Amino acid sequence: MKETINNSETCEDIKGDPASIVIFGGSGDLTLKKLIPSLFNLQKRNLLSENTYILGVGRTNLDSESYRELIKDALNKSNKEVNKLLEKIYYLNGDYTDKNLYQNLKIKMDELDEKHKTNYNRMFYFATPQIVYMDIIKKLGNNGMLKKTDTIFPKVIVEKPFGSDFNSSKRLDKELHNYLEEEQIFRIDHYLGKETVQNILMFRFANTIFEPIWNYKYIDHVQINVTEDLGIGSRAGYFENSGLLRDMFQNHMLQLLALVGMEPPAQLDAESVRDEKYKLLKSVRPLKVEDINKKIIKGQYIEGTINGEKVKAYRDEKNVDPNSQRETYVAAKMYIDNWRWSGVPFYLRSGKRLKLKNSQISIHFKEVPFSIFSKNKLKPHKNILTLNIQPNEGFSLNLQAKQPGSKLCLNDLNMDFRYSEFFDFDPPEAYERLFLDVILDDQTLFVRSDAMETSWEIIDEILQEWDNNPDILHFYKSGSWGPDISEGLFNEDNWVIPGE
Ligand code: BG6
Repeated sequence: MKETINNSETCEDIKGDPASIVIFGGSGDLTLKKLIPSLFNLQKRNLLSENTYILGVGRTNLDSESYRELIKDALNKSNKEVNKLLEKIYYLNGDYTDKNLYQNLKIKMDELDEKHKTNYNRMFYFATPQIVYMDIIKKLGNNGMLKKTDTIFPKVIVEKPFGSDFNSSKRLDKELHNYLEEEQIFRIDHYLGKETVQNILMFRFANTIFEPIWNYKYIDHVQINVTEDLGIGSRAGYFENSGLLRDMFQNHMLQLLALVGMEPPAQLDAESVRDEKYKLLKSVRPLKVEDINKKIIKGQYIEGTINGEKVKAYRDEKNVDPNSQRETYVAAKMYIDNWRWSGVPFYLRSGKRLKLKNSQISIHFKEVPFSIFSKNKLKPHKNILTLNIQPNEGFSLNLQAKQPGSKLCLNDLNMDFRYSEFFDFDPPEAYERLFLDVILDDQTLFVRSDAMETSWEIIDEILQEWDNNPDILHFYKSGSWGPDISEGLFNEDNWVIPGE
């Protein structure tokens, strides 16, 4: 029988304070597919205060009535709960570069804050293409809307990409800091809102058994895989400028690396956790041009078959340059230059149109120091601990065991833990947790300015090289595990095939 022992006084979620939520890019894909459904779920879970409103701002010519229809379609439901959310929803149409928009916004917010009694807990979510971020910040700032007062605490939530390289990210940060203090800036990386990603800290620091062996003495190497079977869909405009290194590595992959590699924080509060993550990222050896094809591989998908369906090549996707050199796959061998991780390779791999959607971290322990089985011609396999971020959320530990029988045989034994089986766990959308944290002013799961800068520094040289000089691109078949060259590169370390 399963038994959960709850050692907290209460595990109940904390309900959000009253809030004014303004979403720039209010009619965009992110808002309709992720942000609004997350707010809807928070309301269903009774975690969104009744004194909250959501104001979509966008260039699409809509009024509040037609916006509500759009939201209803996006939620694909019509019931009392949806109607309750729609009562809180408004829309303001305008051009982000037009200062009149911000004057109208101010008037509208004053009116709605009064009507919904939000206590002026104001947040501005930047869910637009990043090209207009600067305009929005300047105009909100110059209109006095970002100023902290005794009664108003404005916050901004900045979606990725936060800049497009080290310099542009510094410029964006500087502009934000012209009007805001660091505690008012929430840089989102939605991976940090995933339950299983948050659990990395609990797993490491709430158990005694892993920490003593979590270092170069016992760990041979670490693999971090975030693979996707989908292609770029309708995002060619964005992806042609970005590529996978910016889209997945600078943020999600390096954040996972930081959580696996960091030292124990003094406490589980925002600054202690972010101090340790920053320290870890500072120790990551930046990738260099001479590492190309040795420690970093750039790939692009060609046509192939996924789940029995034929899919096109990246270069044949709508609005993609037929000669595009953009990478849809990156694999890298990285090192953390500190005492704990000296000499341990960290292999990071992410790509579109690979065989499966799977995010997982696997820790590969060293071989036993001396094998008593060598006379019997048996070689114990290395132990592997796998943290499954998604799907099949959970973890497994691979051990060696005697296979029953008269002959001495060793076999792999997998100890498997699945959240869904143990906790009846239905993982909430990552944005639910992150919205709630912004409403409650908790910065723990958001990226601090120094860590953001350092993450760009780690990959900046490669980004410049790939942008400016045509480079050898390694093609891979859709539905495969990426270019052959990367398998060769990692073979010596038994490259783990995620989910298999
Ligand atoms: C986003 C990237 O940040 O993360 C997308 O821009 C990617 O390209 C997505 O598909 C993956 O997120 P998830 O939560 O589906 O693993």
